[in-house]
Amino acid sequence: MKVKVLLLGSGGREHALAWGIAKSPKLDKLYTAPGNPGTAKLGENVALDISDQDAVWEFIQSNNIGLTVVGPEQPLVDGIADFLEVKAHPVFGPKKQAAMLEGSKEFAKDFMKRHDIPTAAYEVFSQNEFDKAAEYIKKQGKYPVVLKADGLAAGKGVLIPETEEEALAALDELKSGALSGAASRLVIEEFMVGEEASVFAICDGDSFRVIGNAQDHKRIGEGDTGLNTGGMGAYSPAPIATKEILDITEREIIKPTIDGMKAEGYPYQGFLYVGLMITSEGPKVVEYNCRFGDPECQVIIPGMKTDLLEVIYSCTTGNLASTKIEFDEQYRCTVVLASGGYPESYEKGKEITGLDEVKDALIFHAGTKEESGKLYTNGGRVLNIVGSGNTLKQAIENSYSEIKKIHFEKAYYRNDIGAKGLKHLE
Ligand code: AMP
Ligand code: GLY
Repeated sequence: MKVKVLLLGSGGREHALAWGIAKSPKLDKLYTAPGNPGTAKLGENVALDISDQDAVWEFIQSNNIGLTVVGPEQPLVDGIADFLEVKAHPVFGPKKQAAMLEGSKEFAKDFMKRHDIPTAAYEVFSQNEFDKAAEYIKKQGKYPVVLKADGLAAGKGVLIPETEEEALAALDELKSGALSGAASRLVIEEFMVGEEASVFAICDGDSFRVIGNAQDHKRIGEGDTGLNTGGMGAYSPAPIATKEILDITEREIIKPTIDGMKAEGYPYQGFLYVGLMITSEGPKVVEYNCRFGDPECQVIIPGMKTDLLEVIYSCTTGNLASTKIEFDEQYRCTVVLASGGYPESYEKGKEITGLDEVKDALIFHAGTKEESGKLYTNGGRVLNIVGSGNTLKQAIENSYSEIKKIHFEKAYYRNDIGAKGLKHLE
């Protein structure tokens, strides 16, 4: 039987997921809400407000949708999976309580403590306890120190001051900004020294499968300098994630996470993103996310040889354990082509040319829009160019030789995506 699928989201991650789902012989029709010009070529885009659960349900009913796949974190943290499960509609993505692994830093840290999962030492303070927080920082006397606002803060809730003076100023900044909401709490944690990598698992609430690892490049500037962004490029697999590191991660982090969520009554179903710091003591959790990474998804999904739709569907029916998942042996590198100025202010509406000349890379759209057959920029991160190869070097070279063919005014990309990985291979 063929199934109609509704995919929620509009970024490069969703274009990559749509690309995977669209290859399935089991697909009847793919709808993406709201989607982008890339997903429009693989099915139909729907102008739905995905934060409006009733509107989503109405669309599902009137179009005979058999499965809904949720890309971004916000609808999950808002409980879209709970809402659709009550309607007996199959949905891929964790329910509200399980999505708290990303939705609340405090929940995630306390959960890791309860289950002995390696992470940075920490303390939590309420909004009225800023004096206590300042005392704690001074007493620890260890810098840098990490301050995190609880809750989804779109990457703006983490500050890493280097001195006591900076730390006290950072406390004030959080108090008037990210922590100003009524329920906000503050997590203060130890700074972990090491290199970051991410490991991704797919889960059905009971069992899980590691589906890949990657290294993201979060800063806007080369050499990991400048402001934080959603991610300027990624590559997979990451040589820093050795077999030994991956075995420890699976055994001491991912398994206890899935088992722990189940034992606490919140079985985790969906993609699980584990952000790691590879320290001298082994891998430790920096953060969990309740979704796939963007742009990490763009370098992992294209390597999946098994039918993505079948794998996702097996998670919604609790049958992942009997589903085999196979990947090719290729390296992949994605470079994000961004609007000049991002992550601060930037202009939109610049015409994009040259896409048709790209032959040796996949292109996943993010902030683009199409008008009268022409393509224009419509966001900060505009396109993802994904090169592949038998070696990491080849994958990087393929991305960069293809990205040069695409043009728009004030286009920007980092020239050093993957360089960190090559260093490990030397
Ligand atoms: P998070 O939102 O928790 O992922 O934090 C954002 C970024 O801050 C991470 O990707 C790390 O680069 C950095 N970071 C967060 N927590 C720590 C920590 N305990 N030690 C070192 N760096 C950290
Ligand atoms: N690339 C980082 C993220 O998806 O959160």
